[in-house]
Amino acid sequence: MKKRTIRPAKTLSGGVEPPGDKSISHRYAMLAALAEGTSELRHFAAAADCRSTLDCMKALGAEVKFDKDTARVTGHGLKSTRRALDAGNSGTTMRLLAGILAGQAFTSRLTGDSSLQKRPMKRVVGPLREMGAEIRAREDNFAPLEIRGGRLHAIDFQMPMASAQVKSAVLLAGLFAEGETSVTEPARTRDHTEIALGEFGAPVEKHGKTIRVRGSSNNGAVNLQAQSLDIPGDLSSAVFFIAAASMFPDANLLIHNVGLNPTRTAILDVFASMGASLQMVSVRCAHGELVGDLAVKGTTLKGGVVEGQQIPLVIDELPMLAALGPYTEQGIEIRDAAELRVKESDRIAALAENLRRMGATVEERPDGLRVEGRKAGKLRGAEIDPHGDHRIAMAFAVAALAANGPTVIRDADCAGVSYPTFFDDLDRVAET
Ligand code: S3P
Repeated sequence: MKKRTIRPAKTLSGGVEPPGDKSISHRYAMLAALAEGTSELRHFAAAADCRSTLDCMKALGAEVKFDKDTARVTGHGLKSTRRALDAGNSGTTMRLLAGILAGQAFTSRLTGDSSLQKRPMKRVVGPLREMGAEIRAREDNFAPLEIRGGRLHAIDFQMPMASAQVKSAVLLAGLFAEGETSVTEPARTRDHTEIALGEFGAPVEKHGKTIRVRGSSNNGAVNLQAQSLDIPGDLSSAVFFIAAASMFPDANLLIHNVGLNPTRTAILDVFASMGASLQMVSVRCAHGELVGDLAVKGTTLKGGVVEGQQIPLVIDELPMLAALGPYTEQGIEIRDAAELRVKESDRIAALAENLRRMGATVEERPDGLRVEGRKAGKLRGAEIDPHGDHRIAMAFAVAALAANGPTVIRDADCAGVSYPTFFDDLDRVAET
């Protein structure tokens, strides 16, 4: 429960490289454990969440070695384990792994920390039951989950919500189903699963909003091949630095090696529409994923409204955007984002509470919030309670850089869920 004090900064300068992408690292680790041979996953996310995935795959029989930032994963086919698999704080681990376990001829138990045990699982339990898995959940919605897997049949799933995790759980289960499984999304969500499945050699296709995967007909054994892959830096982590640099008129920051997959870059469009100075440099393609550097300069941000189909594409960046509201001209309004209430914390409540602690004017709504802009006055340093949520801790550390007086972030170590070296990296580029 370590506290961190953030002092006001004069500006930001230099360079920073965010940790490996969390979403991609989870998917590569899971597919590598299902593949034959040893996969080498370079720049694997340092995030505690991705450690949870590696630990689960190890408990299920994969060989896992982690050295510096490279994970080597050797698949031997999955085996049952008596111990409950612990997804820690990671919703992605629990929901995606549920899809894989639904297709195994054994029973597994999946659990997680107190935050994860409060997050809804019915969204994956429903379609996986439809495919033939037997699943028990506390109150039919929450972890711990008990999954009795086996032979699955393909389904055509019209996904009722825009969730990459739900889409991925069904597609991964589809690898073990007889026939062709399809998922149709109501709105675009991140497509790392589709791309990664293709890289590992799975028969996957995409037409418009529908993704299809062909399952195996030989008793559940999908034929995936081990891969040697480079993981781009996590844009959702880079966003804290984009926001920080945007707050100081003479800031000049280069963010190296960032994933620029078009299903993740909607946040860059939001920043651009608010007048941010952002330039993509040296864009290249690595294993189906776009990667590049981002040059950010300080400006005056206009602010604006984020809503509708934008929301699933910027869901993880909304805490930072909201905490930036008081530094914009018109403030920030977030609508249609009730999903934020069931993330690692109730992010709408946590944002409203901590913004008010710093003196901001906030209207909290069931599906979002409105944060008044700079006319409502400058923020003051305060003590922040991140409610154990990594993105809340980091968002307020950034907001604190331009506040009057120091800010204390309680339980700052929770940033390690996605970005263990965040505070050191921020210290290096912030000039106080
Ligand atoms: C993720 C998908 C998103 C996101 C989460 C990571 C993923 O969740 O919020 O941090 O890796 O698929 P939903 O798909 O449930 O919105």
